[in-house]
Amino acid sequence: MSFSGKILDWYHTNKRSLPWRKTTDPYKIWLSEIILQQTRVAQGTPYYLRFIENFPTVKDLADAEEEKVLKLWQGLGYYSRARNLHASAKMVVEQYNGEFPDNYKKLLTLIGVGDYTASAISSICFNEPHAVVDGNVYRVLARYYGIDTPINSTEGIKYFKSLAQKVMDSEEIRDYNQGIMEFGAIQCSPKKPLCLLCPLNDSCVALEKGLVDVLPVKLKKTKVRSRYFNYLIPIYKDTDGNQFTRLNQRTGKGIWQNLWEFPLLESNDILEIDDITIRYKGTLHDIQSNEVLSFNENSIVHKLSHQHLHTKFWLVYTNDDFNDMIPVEKITDFPVPVLIADFIKAFKF
Ligand code: ADE
Repeated sequence: MSFSGKILDWYHTNKRSLPWRKTTDPYKIWLSEIILQQTRVAQGTPYYLRFIENFPTVKDLADAEEEKVLKLWQGLGYYSRARNLHASAKMVVEQYNGEFPDNYKKLLTLIGVGDYTASAISSICFNEPHAVVDGNVYRVLARYYGIDTPINSTEGIKYFKSLAQKVMDSEEIRDYNQGIMEFGAIQCSPKKPLCLLCPLNDSCVALEKGLVDVLPVKLKKTKVRSRYFNYLIPIYKDTDGNQFTRLNQRTGKGIWQNLWEFPLLESNDILEIDDITIRYKGTLHDIQSNEVLSFNENSIVHKLSHQHLHTKFWLVYTNDDFNDMIPVEKITDFPVPVLIADFIKAFKF
């Protein structure tokens, strides 16, 4: 049996029942694919369900406040994807009269939709013969065909796309595309793949040559940059015992665009309490502290794809009220990065 035939057979017996597998509505498939680019199925499913519940149609998403979209996305990271999602929904409503694009070429015009997403939507919803190539597909093809061209090189990207296109089943593209991704996620997993029970184990090059742990090859090209974040949490308690703090919205390019965070003092190195006591005024211009306390002695290292954020939280108590005060009960209404959400949970104000 052919490679694609075995993938299809495997999929028909092993596929998981997932909410987006019950529909071919391109809006819903698009949402699921954008979420699944960000996370695994188990973590992504509740996000998908919440998005569909809050925005049943593309028009509902287009009409939403950006804050609400970011809040629902909170925890998935790469917030530019959530903003692209929102921008694309507006595009569908404004430029396509609310009708989701119904072919590969038109889908590519949406912001945040590249070859992978356009292939996934056009094949799943419209039976167009475009092979998907995601991380799972790279792994399955690299192992089965024994290919060591780096998957993140220009040559590799081109090579794997054309191989994927050559070996797909264009008659059953909807199931084939989902099947090869599912096979990569469950059977041909990155660590401890289930080769012993694999329907392709009599013809897999990597298995025969002992290269299963080596393939696929990926070039390491990005250098990680260390940054030192000091979050200064001003805390004011009024005479009734109500507590207040401040959040700022991040602006400009860079990480966490438009999300909220406590006032930030970024430094070139780790700071200690004496440094903060002297320097906090540079960030909290209008606040006179009567006590500064350290929340975490050792920095929390929050890892992003290209940056490690060495983070300390500092509690800056003050006896006076200040501008832009936020009652601490309201703090969970704001979309914040996971790093900040974790602090809020741990600190319990
Ligand atoms: N990963 C991302 N999208 C998927 C899909 N539609 N089926 C299986 N795995 C996926």
